[in-house]
Amino acid sequence: MHAHAQPTYAELAPILQARCVMCHSGASAAAGLKLDTLEGLLAGSARGPVVRAGAGEASELVRRLRGTSAPRMPMTGPPFLEDAQIAQFAAWIDAGMPAGSPAAAAAATPPRPAVSGRADIALIERWIADGARDAQGHAAPMPVGAAVRLHGTLVGPAQLDALPLRGVAGARAERARIGGYVEVRGRVTSDGEIEVQRLRGR
Ligand code: HEC
Repeated sequence: MHAHAQPTYAELAPILQARCVMCHSGASAAAGLKLDTLEGLLAGSARGPVVRAGAGEASELVRRLRGTSAPRMPMTGPPFLEDAQIAQFAAWIDAGMPAGSPAAAAAATPPRPAVSGRADIALIERWIADGARDAQGHAAPMPVGAAVRLHGTLVGPAQLDALPLRGVAGARAERARIGGYVEVRGRVTSDGEIEVQRLRGR
């Protein structure tokens, strides 16, 4: 990608598609933040806006990309984005989040590929198995308490695919059965397991 003085959404969308959308799209978007469209990005997360026009470096999106706000994004990193790419996001926000050519933007944001719940889970498993390193290779703090929503097969009473689940007995369960495809809502515990709050068959 060329470093333009004023990048547009159309130029940044492919980065979001490749590195963020697997977790940040659809009904179970992480933190309620959808990054598969400009509208979703501008709408922000369940906690509020993630970009503020004119304030690139201070925006939560850039703070997450730099790791000044934790956990650093993409949560699957390292690798994280290159400094030049992060600078482009900051410049884009400074410029007021221009959309760029609608045709280019549309072309750059194809409908979400059919990522299986299993692929999402595999990403998180790999991240935890890698010891959740930060950009400098130091063990990054586990995003303890982070709310997660995952889809997968309930292969045992307390296991979603290869991911161990905790507190299933105390969780709300609707139509969930072992061997079935379920949605799990819960929180990340300090040892990288998921404390289940709700289990729902799909
Ligand atoms: C493996 C899944 C995953 C990937 C990939 C991922 N994220 Fe996230 N993201 C999360 C989770 C989970 C949270 C909530 C963590 C927390 O509690 O702050 C989050 C939170 C965020 C937040 C904070 C929202 C707020 O208001 O606090 C931003 C901004 C964000 N992500 C941006 C990105 C960007 C940009 C990318 C791609 C470069 C990305 N994420 C990739 C899972 C992911």
